[in-house]
Amino acid sequence: MRFQYVILMLIGMSAFMVVRNQVTLGGWIPIKNINDPHVTSIATYAVTEYDKQSGLKLKLEKVISGETNVVDGTIFCLNISTTTNSASNKYNVVVLEKLSQRKLTSFVPLHA
Ligand SMILES: *[C@@H]1O[C@H](CO)[C@@H](O)[C@H](O)[C@H]1NC(C)=O
Repeated sequence: MRFQYVILMLIGMSAFMVVRNQVTLGGWIPIKNINDPHVTSIATYAVTEYDKQSGLKLKLEKVISGETNVVDGTIFCLNISTTTNSASNKYNVVVLEKLSQRKLTSFVPLHA
């Protein structure tokens, strides 16, 4: 009796997990805590990488908003603001993170 109950529970749980995976896979989820150190480190990485490629000296001011998408790794799509001297600029950046390897895939100005 007890054993059957456990089996039923396991079946129920795995069915639930399959459904959940299908729902979350490939969907964009808003980042609730924009001040999360991990999010900040992704944004810092994006700016550093962009500076390397462009020869500019942008500095991260703050992360404005962001979304993540878990596919094969995690895609971070962030709106950030940067500073150069006194000018402030907003950009939309996309960083792919997979097994702690990061790749900047997009860094485009945001026209508000
Ligand atoms: C970034 O900002 C644009 C324009 O305000 C907005 O449409 C977009 O949803 C934002 N993206 C993210 C990831 O927050």
